[in-house]
Amino acid sequence: MNQRCLELLLASALLLLVAPAFSAEDIEIARLATQVCANCHGPHGDSVSSAFPRLAGQQATYIEVQLKAFKDQSRGDPYAQAYMWGMASQLDEGTMKRLGAYYAAERPNPGRTGDAARMAKGKNIFNNGLPEAGILACASCHGENAQGKDAIPRLAGQHPEYLVKQLAAFKSMQRGNNPVMHAMTDKMSLEQMQAVAEYATSK
Ligand code: HEC
Ligand code: HEC
Repeated sequence: MNQRCLELLLASALLLLVAPAFSAEDIEIARLATQVCANCHGPHGDSVSSAFPRLAGQQATYIEVQLKAFKDQSRGDPYAQAYMWGMASQLDEGTMKRLGAYYAAERPNPGRTGDAARMAKGKNIFNNGLPEAGILACASCHGENAQGKDAIPRLAGQHPEYLVKQLAAFKSMQRGNNPVMHAMTDKMSLEQMQAVAEYATSK
């Protein structure tokens, strides 16, 4: 047997070993993620620009729910309309679910520590809420480490600027499809949003 023949044999043996782990659907999802979504969200959902939220390590259910909300146009803030309505209109429910699982399996970005005074203020809001303004502790839903759960998003490792933009959109009702987050932000100042976003993303 010559060298080339041996290489081919080894390659096909390897393929047989690896093949059952990846279905045609998995390959299709990876192609969609790396060739389409990656243009904005980064090659592993780890975007570098705060205009584009990070998806790496995000909760699978949350991603799926958001893609549905873009498709039915119930998440209607201006960036959602401009960037995600058209994108999501092309996706069926099975694909949305698989994209959620794909990004949930990526390693989340590490948090970055911010300004000490803002971090202290943000930590207090995150862990205790602001009872006088009817704001609950963020940790009670988003988790002690801002990791999220099911349809509640991970905030840790996200771009703080993106989270501030979302908090403002919940408050103004531009992202008006979530009454809970509207109630949390209705009486929140921009300064408080910046503090809590900086703390939550640092986790
Ligand atoms: C042209 C740029 C662009 C492309 C391509 C794109 N997105 Fe987005 N995506 C955005 C922007 C901008 C936002 C933030 C919208 C906002 O501010 O409300 C977003 C938001 C999201 C969110 C919500 C994240 C969160 O934390 O709430 C999900 C999920 C998402 N995109 C998934 C995808 C998937 C999956 C693909 C590929 C099928 C994709 N996106 C392709 C620009 C893009
Ligand atoms: C009662 C539960 C609950 C509490 C308390 C809560 N959240 Fe949320 N939060 C949610 C849910 C559910 C969503 C997803 C909303 C959606 O599907 O549009 C969300 C979404 C968000 C988002 C959007 C993230 C993204 O990727 O677009 C931000 C930012 C956020 N919350 C921050 C906070 C902060 C800061 C606090 C504390 C002041 C807080 N939340 C308290 C349940 C909660």
